Amino acid sequence: MNVVSVKDYQELSEYTCNEIERVVRSTPHSVLGLATGGTPLGTYREMINGFKERNVDYRHVTTFNLDEYIGLGRDHPQSYYTYMMNNLFKHINVSPENIHIPNGSAEEMDSECLRYERLIEEIGPPDLQILGIGSNGHIGFNEPGTSITSETHIVELAESTRKANARYFSSLDEVPQHAITMGIQSILKSKRILLLASGSHKAKAVKTLLECLPDEQFPASVLKGHGDVTLVVDESAGG
Ligand code: GLP
Repeated sequence: MNVVSVKDYQELSEYTCNEIERVVRSTPHSVLGLATGGTPLGTYREMINGFKERNVDYRHVTTFNLDEYIGLGRDHPQSYYTYMMNNLFKHINVSPENIHIPNGSAEEMDSECLRYERLIEEIGPPDLQILGIGSNGHIGFNEPGTSITSETHIVELAESTRKANARYFSSLDEVPQHAITMGIQSILKSKRILLLASGSHKAKAVKTLLECLPDEQFPASVLKGHGDVTLVVDESAGG
């Protein structure tokens, strides 16, 4: 795993945006794997600036998002669909038909998992996958113990994940219990991965990641088995 140490959140966001823009400029029909959470927000803000000020063209780009809550409905303010629309997609020229986010309100969730995984196989895999890291090491919504062979699947969210994400809801009770997420195997199919960590609340996870051997109990560590992963980490997260 390569490590890029940056000064702060702003530098992390600029670095990540720059890598994305490089891919999009060199391969107009590129596939991007995108994440939600607080960490990529700055990257998306920089991408919007790049679209407006640097003529970056997303017209032919395809995107795959990692995960979605089950049971919120895509128009819910806290759905990842709404997050992606508000924080990125509606501000750049990506074509709506090229945007892929798992459907957390599908009638048949098992078929939705299969449909999504097939789509990644048909169109993907991502040329570049952006990932955040949960404090328990989760990537996407792959909680500790998730098999390295997992593809898109349904998960029961860990209590610590629900608590961490409760800040976006009016109470913990409102945080969904389940989500649909690309699996570890689906993520590992990406050609290149940038794992982002910013802030002192991520320092412990970063330390564990750097020190441990690949272990399903700390999902981010299995990325060490992939040939092209870069941890982008700022000083307060231990970089
Ligand atoms: C969330 C998301 C992940 C994200 C992680 C860290 O639960 N499902 O994709 O990377 O937790 O979030 P944050 O960036 O807000 O710390």
